[in-house]
Amino acid sequence: KKKVAVMTSGGDSPGMNAAVRAVVRTAINMGCDAYCVYEGYEGLVRGGDLIRQMHWEDVRGWLSEGGTLIGTARCKAFYERPGRLLGAKNMVANGIDALIICGGDGSLTGADKFRQEWPSLIDELVANGDFTEDQVTPYRHLNIVGLVGSIDNDLSGTDATIGCYSALARICEMVDYIEATASSHSRAFVVEVMGRASGWLAVNAGTATGADFVLIPERPEEHDWKEKMSLVHREMGKRKTIVIVAEGARDKEGQKITPTEIKDLLSDTSENGLALDTRITTLGHVQRGGSPVHMDRMLATLQGVEAVKAVLEATPDTETCFIALEENKIVRKPLMRAVKETQELAKAVESKDFTRALQLRDREFAD
Ligand code: F6P
Repeated sequence: KKKVAVMTSGGDSPGMNAAVRAVVRTAINMGCDAYCVYEGYEGLVRGGDLIRQMHWEDVRGWLSEGGTLIGTARCKAFYERPGRLLGAKNMVANGIDALIICGGDGSLTGADKFRQEWPSLIDELVANGDFTEDQVTPYRHLNIVGLVGSIDNDLSGTDATIGCYSALARICEMVDYIEATASSHSRAFVVEVMGRASGWLAVNAGTATGADFVLIPERPEEHDWKEKMSLVHREMGKRKTIVIVAEGARDKEGQKITPTEIKDLLSDTSENGLALDTRITTLGHVQRGGSPVHMDRMLATLQGVEAVKAVLEATPDTETCFIALEENKIVRKPLMRAVKETQELAKAVESKDFTRALQLRDREFAD
């Protein structure tokens, strides 16, 4: 029987459990044995009871659970070859050569590297006397498929990542709460949202809640953004103000724009200041926890099914793929192209090449 393993890696996101459930049950349904690697790459390196066979009922009720029940970790050992060698050893010892990883771009890059190195890792295990040539013969090729789990929705090539809709719904709910109290007291609120180098959460939350200002990394502010913000405010004579600022927001000089800076601007009591009673709310990890919304459960389920099909159909010549959502269709796409484009975009923002960043972002939308 073919053995298919699934693991979650990097930051957790709502819907990861639904993805694990879908993989486990689809694998069993297709006549395979299903395994979970607990604690991300750490579980691969340490093996033992961190690699467990899963049965149909083991994942009962997992659709609606937040976080990841099989754990995740940022594993330093896996960055080095000796760590990956241990990972390969534990996989062969368990008879696993098909692995589905749900994580962000960093985790998926690690997966691709592991697959590329796999033949030489197997050679090394034989040379070290861990296994005989006959024992490793069925495991000469490793098939890996990625599922993108991240609240940031920052992977190029897919319209949505598992977890982004839940985080967005949470942000909107929180901003609605804030709005009520802001309006009651005629106050201004600066709400910081997550997203790393991506402004997807901020832009969508800002649109859906009717925020007054939204600041994102991909569209950096002009040097005079403070004057403009004050002017708009004065002209509109608003009762309350909501500013949503992405954690990666910057100005055109590449300078990070902080919530404190915005608060200082809005609450300035000097002669020309707005003198608004201003508060800062950093939403933090409430954005990442909690039950997944319908769309993340659907995405995770449909993509989990496709991932099992893809990993079983893969041949040594198949490029490592990930499962994407494209115009409402679940499709397979080359993993490394998407990772490369994602990193290119982050680098363009980092090096203040905003023309390039916008080109890449627009191409992604155009694609
Ligand atoms: O990538 C997901 C994310 O939640 C980002 O939006 C955020 O910047 C980061 O992870 C926070 O990481 P940690 O949980 O390690 O503080």
